[in-house]
Amino acid sequence: MFDGVAARYDLTNTVLSFGQDRSWRRATRAALGLLPGERVLDVGAGTGVSTQELARSGAYAVGADLSQGMLHAGRRVRPEVPLLAGDALRLPFADASFDAVTISFALRNVNDPDAALRELARVTRPGGRLVVCEFSTPVHPAFRTVYLSYLMRSLPTVARTVSSNPDAYVYLAESIRAWPDQAALAARVGAAGWGRVAWRNLTGGVVALHRAVRV
Ligand SMILES: C[S@@+](CC[C@H](N)C(=O)[O-])C[C@H]1O[C@@H](n2cnc3c(N)ncnc32)[C@H](O)[C@@H]1O
Repeated sequence: MFDGVAARYDLTNTVLSFGQDRSWRRATRAALGLLPGERVLDVGAGTGVSTQELARSGAYAVGADLSQGMLHAGRRVRPEVPLLAGDALRLPFADASFDAVTISFALRNVNDPDAALRELARVTRPGGRLVVCEFSTPVHPAFRTVYLSYLMRSLPTVARTVSSNPDAYVYLAESIRAWPDQAALAARVGAAGWGRVAWRNLTGGVVALHRAVRV
């Protein structure tokens, strides 16, 4: 599915999120508290748009993704970003290789998110940091109603005019609706080898950043 949306992935994101995706990526970088020279892994990096933002910290940022189509599209527009083929469930890295790991808008797409959270813990050094950036549940009930209506009705229609594979955006809407809310995801992060789990809502909870420390 991601091979099919790769060509116009970056543009479609920006259109469907009204440009908010850029601020969500900046907030993810800030939440990781990266220092120059640290090593950070971006899992489900896709075209490397999230990885590129991390590198602005001065850390060494590497992206890994399962979709060759997304990786090819990313390497074409961001040749300076290191992007590797890799499965979130079997990462091609040794134990404790990274100071920080992150996954943006990808944990929801992995077949077994709990196993992926454990695998992220495996490649992170003790005391290293995790940030999960993912769609979540808007906090205010009235806003939640408007948002869900946008998600289920308008988003697939807009995607039809922008994306190279509009059906993928029907999946996007359905997968967001089925995803656990902030507290439920925090419990799953805590059960996967991570401590000091906390979250912060962005755009009223449309997106949540979950952060944690490797125990
Ligand atoms: C919505 S994109 C997110 C891309 C990028 N992180 C961003 O913020 O725009 C989700 C990505 O997760 C990848 N993905 C899904 N399952 C995966 C897995 N098991 N291992 C690695 N990547 C995976 C897909 O190939 C896709 O590129």
